Amino acid sequence: MKICKTIHNMHAACRALRHEGKRLGLVPTMGALHEGHLSLVRAANSQCDVVAVSIFVNPTQFGPNEDFSRYPRTFDRDRELLDKEGVDLIFAPSVEEMYPQGAITYVTVEGLSDKLCGKSRPGHFRGVTTVVSKLFHIIEPDVAFFGQKDAAQAAIIRRMVRDLNMPVEIVVCPIVREPDGLAMSSRNSYLDPQQRQSALVLHRSLMRIRELFGNGERSSAKLIATAKEILAGWPSVRLDYFEIVNPDTLESVDNVSHGALVALAAFVGSTRLIDNIPLNV
Ligand code: PAF
Repeated sequence: MKICKTIHNMHAACRALRHEGKRLGLVPTMGALHEGHLSLVRAANSQCDVVAVSIFVNPTQFGPNEDFSRYPRTFDRDRELLDKEGVDLIFAPSVEEMYPQGAITYVTVEGLSDKLCGKSRPGHFRGVTTVVSKLFHIIEPDVAFFGQKDAAQAAIIRRMVRDLNMPVEIVVCPIVREPDGLAMSSRNSYLDPQQRQSALVLHRSLMRIRELFGNGERSSAKLIATAKEILAGWPSVRLDYFEIVNPDTLESVDNVSHGALVALAAFVGSTRLIDNIPLNV
């Protein structure tokens, strides 16, 4: 497994592989890898000849009062895990390498980037689309793999690729959950045992919505009201948003007859967690 820290080396290594006719898959990550990330790596391995994983805690997607400096950095463990999965290349640049002094160019998907998490995290998706564009230019993957847990991120990246004619296929893989339902996240490591227990209500509220939907309920307002009632029983969980939206436009829908995405974000203590489920007809 080759580890590249500079854009020049990574670009050259990926170009050489593609010139050999290899289908190159990219799994962009911020490290602190868990089974969710590894499921993306396995999907990439099954669909591509060579797999690159980027590990970069991207400062431009964190707000000034968010957890950029605290975000877990576990490079040695990540490297071992990726080695075991048979990954070919790791791209682990420094912040200075990715954002040299004076960088002032950003990529924004207007209209989508201020929905869901974008509402309470202004600038977050602009940071994501900027860094993902840069990774696509540096690595030139044939396919890139993202997790459904960040459903808004996936929708925004799909839209960016479409609008800017980026020659990369986007594959979105299902959420990986702990046995008790908690969606895997690098931020789960911030939770103490009591908070972790409280956090289970997020998945439970989504499961209740799925159940009501299965029983024929189609009103978004009624579905959301039920979920909010469940969440209100857990004062240690502070809801940021609970929305039912069109999975492509991220616009709220009043009625789920044609399917929808149910997405939530909540603070458990100071940890912000997200989760979602699709409602498929
Ligand atoms: O999903 C993430 O971990 C990040 O948002 C990504 C896509 C690696 C960009 O920094």
